[in-house]
Amino acid sequence: MTTYETIVVRPLTANIGAEIEGLDLSKPLDNRQSEELYRAFLEHHVVFLRGQDMTPEQHMTAGRLFGEICGIPFVKSVEGYPEIVEIVKEAEERKTYNFGGNWHTDMTFLEEPAKASVLYGLEVPPAGGDTKFAATAAAYDALSPRMQEILESLTGIHTGGRSYGKSGKFAGSKTSTKSMQIDASDDADAEIEHPIVRVHPETGRKALYVNPNYTLRIKDLAEDESAAILNFLYAHMVRDEFTCRFQWTPGAVAIWDNRVTMHRAINDYDGARRVMHRVTIGGDRPVAAAASASAA
Ligand code: SIN
Repeated sequence: MTTYETIVVRPLTANIGAEIEGLDLSKPLDNRQSEELYRAFLEHHVVFLRGQDMTPEQHMTAGRLFGEICGIPFVKSVEGYPEIVEIVKEAEERKTYNFGGNWHTDMTFLEEPAKASVLYGLEVPPAGGDTKFAATAAAYDALSPRMQEILESLTGIHTGGRSYGKSGKFAGSKTSTKSMQIDASDDADAEIEHPIVRVHPETGRKALYVNPNYTLRIKDLAEDESAAILNFLYAHMVRDEFTCRFQWTPGAVAIWDNRVTMHRAINDYDGARRVMHRVTIGGDRPVAAAASASAA
């Protein structure tokens, strides 16, 4: 673990998550603070800051510390702020599906999926509504060398169709939600290939890159073979020792690295309102472990 001078970093677990103290995101950060925040993000994969009070502009400025903002396809953005999406569930909504409720990594249905996400809790339930995060690099490290080798040769097929397609779970009346507008589209059904083990472009760590929400199957395997491997990985990736859980307080911010994490929003707060704003940072095309080794 590295040391920090301008911020206090309190890890939640050895594998994932840290709370950060000493930063006010409504003010410009100096170079040292920005560098340390970014380093903590790389080191802990998801960082949490409590008690922030940001305007949408300040939220976007905080997001730009991590790269270029890209928005979320198919999801309506906040009026006047195309770069911010509001994730909301009203107190009276009793929905089977809440937004982000399945384990996922943001936007793996794109050729260049999201690098990072900056989620700001504006209104949070008095109890429940936590977000869980899973460390996909630690999960990769814990596999046997032979299993790692097998997985490194495989490619996953991803799609947004199950969420945002015309017959996806957020299409039309299925959501019975007035709180979020999803533009279901055939475009979401596109099938996109990513390596099952990707190499982090900045740290060089290898991480599993499949998720139950957007990964359809493993390329070139029979359906039952693919399902068996994916189901094994999904159970393995969310073992307690690879996860942390964040209990929101008003004004808290979570910033996660989508290249080495999955997350899910827990839907256990019927009767309470939850309103979050998310800024999403665009990423690169994932690089396979094999390709990275041959380039070295
Ligand atoms: C998301 O998947 O971005 C939503 C997470 C949350 O609402 O906790």
